[in-house]
Amino acid sequence: MSDTAQFVYEGKTYELPVLESSSGEKAIDITQLRAKTGLITYDPGFMSTGSCKSAITYLEGEKGILLYRGIPIEQLAEKSNFIETSYLLIYGELPTNNQLEEFKYHVTHHSMVHESIKNFYDGFPNNPHPMAVCSAVVGSLATFYQNELSVRDEREIEITIHRLLAKLPTIAAYSYKKSTGQPLPYPDNTLSYSENFLKMMFGKPCEPYEPNPLAAKAIDTLLLLHADHEQNCSTSAVRLVGSSMCNLFASVSAGIYALWGPLHGGANQAVIEMLQTIQDDGANVKKYVDKAKDPNDPFRLMGFGHRVYKNFDPRSRVIKKMTKEIVEPLGSREPLLAIALELEQIALEDEFFLERKLYPNVDFYSGLIYKALDIPVNMFPVMFAMGRLPGWIAQWKELQEDESFKIGRPRQLYSGKMNREYVPIENR
Ligand code: CMC
Repeated sequence: MSDTAQFVYEGKTYELPVLESSSGEKAIDITQLRAKTGLITYDPGFMSTGSCKSAITYLEGEKGILLYRGIPIEQLAEKSNFIETSYLLIYGELPTNNQLEEFKYHVTHHSMVHESIKNFYDGFPNNPHPMAVCSAVVGSLATFYQNELSVRDEREIEITIHRLLAKLPTIAAYSYKKSTGQPLPYPDNTLSYSENFLKMMFGKPCEPYEPNPLAAKAIDTLLLLHADHEQNCSTSAVRLVGSSMCNLFASVSAGIYALWGPLHGGANQAVIEMLQTIQDDGANVKKYVDKAKDPNDPFRLMGFGHRVYKNFDPRSRVIKKMTKEIVEPLGSREPLLAIALELEQIALEDEFFLERKLYPNVDFYSGLIYKALDIPVNMFPVMFAMGRLPGWIAQWKELQEDESFKIGRPRQLYSGKMNREYVPIENR
């Protein structure tokens, strides 16, 4: 028998069902609350609100656990790759060999964009932010496939998924390439997902380009680690837009915009800027650790601490290992790496940080790795978007298939004036 929660309001007792998640977390089902009591709930920032049931990603901040479809992120980072993990997130199971080959084929062979799309890049002003460009171009894909935008037709959804996964690296690389004045290259379908991205970013038509396998592996793992993080801001944006039965291109375009904000996808950039400041100031790391500890100084160590992870961020452990094994050799010319490692070591041994459970988060290392790979800082959130794409797709698809599908439409507590008389302009 399921639990109920009782509460008393204006002398009357009400019972509401209590639901239990597969991890044992409980939630009061308030769907009938307003109908039964006239009350609504108030929860800005959704601190205590479960917006959906989801079987995609589980995270437990206190224990530093992150599972995609039940599989620990550490195992996936070690044994899987971004494409296989994308399949897992979107379809719920690890693919068989045939399923994986077919998926890879589609995700590879839709990588070109319509030639007209290249003209869009000429239309933007000089050096636009690549997130604005990516979101605009992804949204515009809906105009090229306007007869295949049904959100209830399995085949149309399928091909849209393939198109999005295949084209986003091309769209993203073009947003950088344009700023360099070099021609927009065609994708190379003989390469892996991340090799192809690297070639479109850094290859030139006048000379051969061989993607560095260590760099490609680093990119692939970073994409995988960012692939989903349950109901975060951009994913919730994708779901909300999708809840109007809006197509996947438009929903993902909205997700890219939501990710752009500095409170969400922008922290890895802040880490690099902080490390640069420390370096420009004589690389006095201790001075900045002391500043971060000073209650009268607003300075914080960027890339430390997390709202949900109060033990450690499991993604940051994987990235740290990767920094040592893969990127340190590549990044030996990257002076910020040495500062970061020193900073991390001092902070991890310091009582202030230990007491407050402030550990390096995913952004502390990911920006460093991107920097070591010569990815420009304003492309960091774009890298995040490429990684998060399968998560957005999986969450959008789950929403469309949900038997309790409803348009998202929160209530509000109105705090404005009531019933005022209109005043003609000459009397104001
Ligand atoms: N450096 C120094 N002190 C810190 C830091 C930090 N990075 N983070 C928290 N603290 C201190 C804070 O001053 C407070 O101390 P006291 O108890 O003495 O007042 C205590 O730790 C608790 O801080 P809080 O602000 O209440 O913690 P929160 O859970 O609300 O904030 C956070 C989480 C991520 C916003 C915060 O740790 C922070 O600002 N970190 C730096 C920015 C950053 O790296 N953001 C990326 C987060 S991961 C991206 C994602 O997954 O979305």
